[in-house]
Amino acid sequence: MLLVLLLGLLLLTLALRARSSQGSRGKLPPGPTPLPLLGNLLQLGSSKMDQRLMELSRRYGPVFTVHLGPRPAVVLSGSAALREALLLQGDAFSGRGAMPTFERFTRGNGIAFSNGPRWHTLRTFTMGALKDMGLGTRSIEERIQEEAAALCKELGQNRDAPFNPQQLLCNAVSNVICAVVFGQRYGYEDPDFKTLLDLLNDNFKLMSSQWGQMYNMFPSVMDWVPGPHQRIFHNFELLRAFIYDQIWKHQKSRKPREPRDFIDCFLDQIDKEKQDPWSHFYMDTLVMTTHNLFFGGTETTSTTLRYGLLILLKYPEVTKKAHEEIDRVVGRDRAPRLDDRENLPYTNAVLHEIQRLISVLPMGLPRATTQDTHFRGYFLPKGTHVIPLLVSAHRDSIQFKDPQCFDPTNFLDDKGAFRPNKAFMPFAPGKRMCLGASLARMEIFLFLTTILQRFKLCPMEKPEDIDLTPQCTGLGNVPPAYELRVLAR
Ligand code: HEM
Repeated sequence: MLLVLLLGLLLLTLALRARSSQGSRGKLPPGPTPLPLLGNLLQLGSSKMDQRLMELSRRYGPVFTVHLGPRPAVVLSGSAALREALLLQGDAFSGRGAMPTFERFTRGNGIAFSNGPRWHTLRTFTMGALKDMGLGTRSIEERIQEEAAALCKELGQNRDAPFNPQQLLCNAVSNVICAVVFGQRYGYEDPDFKTLLDLLNDNFKLMSSQWGQMYNMFPSVMDWVPGPHQRIFHNFELLRAFIYDQIWKHQKSRKPREPRDFIDCFLDQIDKEKQDPWSHFYMDTLVMTTHNLFFGGTETTSTTLRYGLLILLKYPEVTKKAHEEIDRVVGRDRAPRLDDRENLPYTNAVLHEIQRLISVLPMGLPRATTQDTHFRGYFLPKGTHVIPLLVSAHRDSIQFKDPQCFDPTNFLDDKGAFRPNKAFMPFAPGKRMCLGASLARMEIFLFLTTILQRFKLCPMEKPEDIDLTPQCTGLGNVPPAYELRVLAR
């Protein structure tokens, strides 16, 4: 009893000290009282952290502080606070916050997890190189159309038999970014590539699991704890080996200043800056940026497609309307193209509603303040960790009616025209927004309209029994595994 009392007193003293040291770090917004070392683990849990943060925002408002283990983090909740910080004070909030699951691998070297001049240089360079390799032009549209046709051929081969679409969707999406980064696509039967995609999937799932969340809160403890989270780093090493191998092959076959793909562009830049000791272009920044594009360009988009199909199976009346619109506007004799989008307002609304409902990265990626920052009466010192709670914008009941439900009219006006909504932010707003947003939008539109043009989707259970609850939520919202049948239309 005495021991419990002493322990309680010790925890209380440490909590009070943590509070006063928080004061000395600036005037952070209020939030639940943290326990020493554990922070707000009891309030946040390690699964469904996004839901817990939304509950806390009902009590503490749109800007509040939580402790991830010993580290304070400022949460931005609701579209108004998110836009105000990430758009209106874009520079101040453009830093990347720590995410130990990635950090142990990238060590601040890739585009997604670097900061300061390195991030700026890599971002400007990568956007330019991807543009040079056809992103944002007709050529990438054609590439996606070809891949969508190849995917439909594969889907058609399942002839009426139930199958899980995960592998095929992932392969198709990945092939688009692989063409740009590695200069090649991989066949749907390629066993090595299948293994590689399994690694990506496994990591996305592990980082969205309780183990991944615990690692992000307590990295130095979790490093010593056996468990599935250790696989994240093993998988990363295998991915690194694959990327090294690709770079090595490029080095052997390239012609300097005649780039065929992103890796060649980067190697040219390494050559150009090899006399500069401060250059940000070297082997590790190439490997990590390539990894960020490969991982970022595969997992989020393919998860969106996979979740999207499940939602379409659950809402056959919505799917029927989209079928009819696609038949009327595109017909069945040619492939859908991007400029069909403005004539397909209903289908476009369905795709936006899918992205809103699933919030594939519910807490975005962590940000950090790049300078001492005043925000809504609080003072956030340089380097303050910031959680952009993107899902909270998507659950805003003023912007979206009945936000827990799937309803494409959220993106339609009274006349049935497409109506954008400022609270829609799956790619996060501001200077650090997703670098692949326009590519992802193209892919989601072209892949899903092509599938709907060609196939009727048949669920394996009654639509009303389909459960959309994610199998895990952390870095991402991972949909439950499911099977479907597709019938040629
Ligand atoms: C549905 C698909 C996608 C979603 C929902 C998504 C979402 C996001 C989000 C929320 C971020 C964090 C932005 C921030 O810091 O606030 C991000 C970053 C990033 N995404 Fe995406 N993404 C998608 C597809 C892609 C694709 C196809 C690529 C490939 C080119 C890509 C590459 C990246 C990169 C490189 C970053 C890091 C940017 C930086 O730190 O400067 N993403 N993405």
